[in-house]
Amino acid sequence: MKVLITAALPYANGPLHLGHIRSTYLPADIYKRFNEIIGNEVIYVCASDEHGTPIAVEAEKQGKKPEDIVNYYHERDKKEFKELGFSMDIFHRTSSKENKEMALFFFEKLKENGYIYEKKVTQYYCEDLNRFMPDRYIKGVCPYCKAEEQYADQCEKCGKTLKPGELINPYCTITKTKPSLKEVSHYFFKLSDFKESLKDFLEKGNFQKEVINYVNNWLNDLKDWDIVRELDWGIKVPGRANQVFYVWFDAPIGYISSTKALRKDWKEFWNSSKIVHFIGKDIIYHHYLFWPAMLIGVKEFSLPYAIPTRGYLNLENKKFSKSRGWYITIREFLDNFPPDYLRYYMTYITPYSLVDANFSFEEFMHRINNDLIANYGNLVNRVGKLSNGLNLKEEYLKHGFLQLMNEFKEKYAEKMENFEFKEGLEIAMEVVKRANKLISDEEPWKLKGEFKESVMSEAVYATLLSSVMLYPIIPFSTKKALEMLNHKEISLSIKLPSKINKVKPLYKKVEEKDISKMKEILAKRSNENSV
Ligand code: MSP
Ligand code: ZN
Repeated sequence: MKVLITAALPYANGPLHLGHIRSTYLPADIYKRFNEIIGNEVIYVCASDEHGTPIAVEAEKQGKKPEDIVNYYHERDKKEFKELGFSMDIFHRTSSKENKEMALFFFEKLKENGYIYEKKVTQYYCEDLNRFMPDRYIKGVCPYCKAEEQYADQCEKCGKTLKPGELINPYCTITKTKPSLKEVSHYFFKLSDFKESLKDFLEKGNFQKEVINYVNNWLNDLKDWDIVRELDWGIKVPGRANQVFYVWFDAPIGYISSTKALRKDWKEFWNSSKIVHFIGKDIIYHHYLFWPAMLIGVKEFSLPYAIPTRGYLNLENKKFSKSRGWYITIREFLDNFPPDYLRYYMTYITPYSLVDANFSFEEFMHRINNDLIANYGNLVNRVGKLSNGLNLKEEYLKHGFLQLMNEFKEKYAEKMENFEFKEGLEIAMEVVKRANKLISDEEPWKLKGEFKESVMSEAVYATLLSSVMLYPIIPFSTKKALEMLNHKEISLSIKLPSKINKVKPLYKKVEEKDISKMKEILAKRSNENSV
C-alpha cells in the first residue's frame, strides 16, 4: 500500500517549540516509521509556510526583508527536524517555484469550474503610500470595548471581529496618517457551494467523532472565502498589482507542490495513496472544510483518507506564549537531552484526541528515569549480560509464548494503524514488562545449558519485539539496541539471532540539575518579558 503523510506546514517566522512537536510533527513521524516497518511504501512531506501578513509585519518590525526571515527559519526548522529524527522525505517551501505554479493552477481550475467569482470589498487605503493596506497595518480604538492600539481585523481585548471602517481613529502604522476607505475588487472562493459534497466527504472518511462534531456546526454556516490580500509578500494574483493570495490559499497547496518537488510520479502517487494530514486542533476548519473543498473543486486530486488532529500542549500548566516568553524551544531542549527522551515523553502524554496536555519537567524526568530507563533500558542490559556466549534457538520458543507475542503484535498494529500511538507505546511497554518478569521469575543466572538458553531465547525474542514496536517512537536508541542484539531488519517479523553482540547501556538518567537548568531558562525569559 502507498501512504502519503503530511504535517501542517510551520510558519517560518519563529523558532519551533515543544507544542509544535506534540500535536503535529512527532505523530506524523511515528506513523511514517510504523508504515515502514509493516512494509508500506510511504512518504512524509512537509514545507515551511512562508507567506502571510504576520511574516511581512515581523520583517517590518525587525527592519528586514521577509525573505531574510523565512530563509533563516526554513534552514533552522529543517535542521531541528533532522536532529529530532523526523524522517521527512522533503522539507520544501511555499515560496518555491513549484508552489507558485501549483497555486496558479488551482486558481485557474477553480475559476474554470465556476467556484471563483469577483466581488468589490471596502479596504483601508493609505493616501500617503498610494495603496490599499492590509488590516494588520492599520490600528485604532475598538468600537466595542474602546481598547486602544487594536488591529483593524480583530480586537485582541474583547475578541470581536472587525470590518474595515469600524475602528475609531484609525491610523496607518507605517506613515502614522489617517487612512481612507475605498472599494477594490477581490476574488472569492465559493465555499458555500460545497455543503453537500463536504458532508459526504466527512461521513465517509476515517475521522475523529469529536472533530466531526465541531465541523458539522460550521457546515451549516459556510461563508465564501476572500482569497485575496492587499500585500506584496506572497503569490501574486494574476493581473493585479499589490494583491497576493491569502496565505491559507497557497499553504495547503504546498502539500501537493512539495510532493511534486520530491518525485516525478507525484500525481500518480498522490492519487493512489492513502493521504494522511497531521494537524493541531487550531487549524481544523482549514483542513476539514477549506482544503477538501478546494480539492473537490479542482477535480484532479484525491481527498485525504484521515486528518489526525491533536490538542494543544501547555508548559508547566500555562499556555505557550511568545509575547510572555513562556516557551522552551526545540534548540534549548536538544542542547540538554537526547531526542528520544522528548519523543518518548511526548507520546506518553499525547492521546489521539483534542484534549490539551501538560509538559512538566518533573514528570518528564520521572517518566524517563522510572519507565523508559528502568524498564526498557534495563531489559536490554539484562538480556545482553545474561545471553553472553549462549546459543539462542527459535525451537526453544514455546507455542504459548509465541501465541502471546503475536497477540501483542496484532493489538499494537491495530492501535498504530488507528493513530493511537500512546496505546501502541503502552502495548510495547507491556511486552517489556513480560520480558522482565520472565527473567525475574525464571532466574536464568541460576540455570545452565539448554535450560538457560531456552529462557534467554524467549527473553531476547520479547526484547527484540518490544524494540521494533518502540522504534517508531524512539528510533535512535531502539536502532542501537537492535544492532547490539544482532537483529538486522527493523520489521515486526522477528528473527531470533543465534548469538547477540556486546551490549552497552543505552541511556543516561535525567538528573535534577538538568531539569533545573530548563526551569531557569523559562523563569528568566518570562521575567524579562513581564517587565
Ligand atoms: N502554517 C500553518 C499551517 C499551514 S498547513 C497548510 C500553521 N503553522 S504553525 O507554525 O502555527 O503551527 C504548526 C503546527 O503546530 C500546527 O499543526 C499547529 O496546530 C501546531 N501547534 C502550534 N502550537 C501548538 C501547541 N502549543 N500545542 C500543540 N500544537 C501546536 O498553523
Ligand atoms: Zn474590543
